[in-house]
Amino acid sequence: MAKKTVLDFNEMKKKGDKITFLTAYDFPIASFCEKAGIDMVLVGDSAAMVVHGLPGTMPMTMDQMIQHSQAVRRGAPDTFVIGDMPFLSYQVSREDAIENAGRFFKEAGVDAIKLEGGRRVIKQIEGIVEGGMPVMGHIGLTPQSSGQLGGFKAQGRTADAAMELIEDALAIEKGGGFALLVEAVPPEVGRIITNMLRIPVLGIGAGMEMDGQLLIVGDMLGYFEAFTPKFVKKYAELGAIIEKACREFGEEVRGGKFPEEKHCYRMLEGEHDKLQSMVRKAGPR
Ligand code: KIV
Repeated sequence: MAKKTVLDFNEMKKKGDKITFLTAYDFPIASFCEKAGIDMVLVGDSAAMVVHGLPGTMPMTMDQMIQHSQAVRRGAPDTFVIGDMPFLSYQVSREDAIENAGRFFKEAGVDAIKLEGGRRVIKQIEGIVEGGMPVMGHIGLTPQSSGQLGGFKAQGRTADAAMELIEDALAIEKGGGFALLVEAVPPEVGRIITNMLRIPVLGIGAGMEMDGQLLIVGDMLGYFEAFTPKFVKKYAELGAIIEKACREFGEEVRGGKFPEEKHCYRMLEGEHDKLQSMVRKAGPR
């Protein structure tokens, strides 16, 4: 299937066709997403937690994100891939933001970038858009500012807090964002934002009435075990499957059951006899 573009996502919103969106950090998962027909793949800085075992996303660097994005691009050449801008790659200045966004396109061949925040990063969003690069906004629970938010907590639960998110969403659309991701808000807030914006609004923990849904692949495949947010549905229990396979391997090696004949290479015809006579001639050392 041909790779979707920002125009296709607008069309999907108009028609009410839901957009499917998963994170991936490496070649194999990206290729499975593509084979499964997922519309968008996010190379999230959640790699910090899901892949690198860190407690939060702040330590991720541009170089790490570029490497993950390159692997995902190779695994999913015909899928819309979005690079996630890591902490401090865009907060300091508009110039930094444009330059670092550009690295994702030049070095990893992504189709868009995502960054966290609303009005407070609007200059950066406008700059990247003016540079010709599609930008996805991200509001609600924004993990890079989880310290300010008091942890990984739902957002927009009061009318005032929800209005702040709505103002951010409108600013991102006005600033040229091609799409918006809304994380961990009540479904009423997700629905209002989705209905107010012309651009596609994706949700992760934002209820049913969004233009599309994102899940973190380690959560939905059941191999990220540190914690499971309320909004996660597990579509597989890969953690348990992987652990069981590793345990069986250990038991079989210890018990001399692996490897078997069928896992062994054979010497070429006549070479074994030849080797034995050479070994005999070499004698004991
Ligand atoms: O890094 C990521 O995967 C994200 C999601 C939490 C939305 O930004």
